[in-house]
Amino acid sequence: MSAQFAHLFSPIQLRTVEIRNRIVFSAHLTALSENQLPGERLAAYYRARAQGGVGLIVVEAAYVYPTEPFTTGPFSSLHKPGWLEGSMRIVDGVHTHGAKILQQLSDGGRQRSGWNDLLPNWAPSAIPWHAGGELPRPMNRKDIRLMVEAFAQAAKLARQAGYDGVEVHGAHGYLINQFMSRASNQREDEYGGSIENRARFPLEVIAAVRKAIGEDLVLGFRLEAEEYVPNGITMDEARRFAIMLDQTHQVDYFNVTCGSYASGQSRVVMPMYYPSAVYAPFACEIKQLVHVPVSAVGRITDPATAESIIADGSADMVVMTRAMLADPDMPNKAREGNLEDIRYCMGANEGCIGRIHKGFYRIGCVFNPDTGEELSAQERTPAASPRKVLVVGGGPAGCETARIAALRGHTVTLWERGRELGGQTVIARNAPGRSELHEVSRFHEHWLKKLGVAVRLGFEATAEDICSFGANQIVLAVGSVPAMLPLAKECPELAINARNALSWQVDLGKNIVVYLEDRYLQGLTAAHHWASRGARVAVFTPYLSAGTDVDTLTREVLMQRLADANVRVIGRHRLREIRANQVVFTDLNLKTDVTISEVSALIYDCGSHPDRSLEDQLTELGVDFFLAGDCATPRHLIGAIRDGARIGGRL
Ligand SMILES: Cc1cc2nc3c(=O)[nH]c(=O)nc-3n(C[C@H](O)[C@H](O)[C@H](O)COP(=O)(O)O)c2cc1C
Ligand code: SF4
Repeated sequence: MSAQFAHLFSPIQLRTVEIRNRIVFSAHLTALSENQLPGERLAAYYRARAQGGVGLIVVEAAYVYPTEPFTTGPFSSLHKPGWLEGSMRIVDGVHTHGAKILQQLSDGGRQRSGWNDLLPNWAPSAIPWHAGGELPRPMNRKDIRLMVEAFAQAAKLARQAGYDGVEVHGAHGYLINQFMSRASNQREDEYGGSIENRARFPLEVIAAVRKAIGEDLVLGFRLEAEEYVPNGITMDEARRFAIMLDQTHQVDYFNVTCGSYASGQSRVVMPMYYPSAVYAPFACEIKQLVHVPVSAVGRITDPATAESIIADGSADMVVMTRAMLADPDMPNKAREGNLEDIRYCMGANEGCIGRIHKGFYRIGCVFNPDTGEELSAQERTPAASPRKVLVVGGGPAGCETARIAALRGHTVTLWERGRELGGQTVIARNAPGRSELHEVSRFHEHWLKKLGVAVRLGFEATAEDICSFGANQIVLAVGSVPAMLPLAKECPELAINARNALSWQVDLGKNIVVYLEDRYLQGLTAAHHWASRGARVAVFTPYLSAGTDVDTLTREVLMQRLADANVRVIGRHRLREIRANQVVFTDLNLKTDVTISEVSALIYDCGSHPDRSLEDQLTELGVDFFLAGDCATPRHLIGAIRDGARIGGRL
């Protein structure tokens, strides 16, 4: 073991359960359930993390009340026959690899949506989580009693399934948090008003859950430190709640976190724009007040930061959830001192929470093609007969193809026309707050070198070069070209596509208009880039709003950053004309023209097209090849990396 991380890899005792190290894979919805039951896919997902060396896993929230609608989506329902057997499989798999495992218990309260099952929401008070949202029915005393019993029943089931304990979800704006917060609890009975009254419901839940699981199992509590909403929980109240809950002697650890739906979920699953270990100071404060271990959270992505949090006494455990979504083997790699081998989470969010938010698609990772696909990854075998493979293009798709092909035993050569690997991530990371995208090329450079892939940079290959190389397998991963804005021809000296606006060292002047027909990140980050350099920037789009394809949490922060930089984002305007220093839009609502004068540059983003030049030539020559990434069709980073893994696994 590397002595570097002595604190991180020291065991910790939670009641009767010893955890082998301080690293926690905290609860998170995965949408990996099958027929609303935990199946082999979910078991493989957790098993991979246990095998990778994590100490403690908290399984995604089980919603304790039978009508909770999360139980009707691709999430496990503990009310469905088969839940127990499926859960036992998860627990066994995790225990086999030496980790411990808890089941999180929760109820959505006003944060559930009744649109699916058309059942009424309920909550402590009739206050929706956002103005104009679904109005919850205030729970009466009988409802509260039934809910406490539901928590106890669920805890009993968790014990039967063999879990080492449960974590009660008292944060992120869910039902228990709603009772604790003045923002959502304006009751006038014994469950509302004073902080003691607002603590009554969580205290009743804790007592009932403890009774259900017995004295030996672990009972953790996810505690809200800052709600970031008017009248919401602040650290002052969180301290008092922590003391009250601790005095019961039934809670075995506190997992201190922040944010809710009302604050914007970017406060819960912080995107790249947030600094590392952002909520650790809150855990540190709670730790001074309670007698049990405390866990810190918030973009803790590297073992050195995690080690320092434990070593300096800020917390006893560290949540590194997305860190292990990106690399399940992160703990083992850190323990063995192989830090460069780690695929570090960048906070891109698009593959994990972004996919859940898009439509409850199965969890993944932009960077790790095997996340959520652990069963298919297991099927990837060494190549039956090693071959000579040529990959043309060193963006994420090409690099991932080369990495997987080399891992499987092929002899791989990669040609890249640019001066470095990374493709469009090299450009994207120039925008403010996006520098962590550097990790993509850092990881690939390291692994291609380690696996002996022959990388040639600055080489623009022709079809003849490819044919004469004599490869057994050819993979084209040459990327895409920006789609042209047809009107740009009218005034080429004014118009520049977003890709070039992010990468070229040019002066675009002080009065920039950005026009977005694409709904993804590039144009918005280009606007941010130029605004941060002091230009006055306005963004126009023909859609209702810009960036609707961006992960909602990244978008939440980016739109705020744009507003902070005085960038106006204006929807329902279509570009009609470009003249020297002037652009004319049609306001699609009012059907009138809007002319912007003294424009120094027009940055546009109309998406991209596959780069087909080599594909067409090789097809003409009758040469076989695979297409990976944007040159097949542009699909963002996650699509490029998945292509690389899929094709690299087939060669
Ligand atoms: C896809 C996803 C779903 C989540 N669902 C839950 C949940 O059900 N319960 C919970 O307490 N936290 C949930 N979280 C929050 C995580 O437990 C964790 O607090 C958050 O990801 C920040 O930690 P990290 O920066 O180490 O990822 C979720 C996070 C993600 C990425
Ligand atoms: S998608 Fe992004 S935030 Fe999510 S785990 Fe992967 S790298 Fe981290």
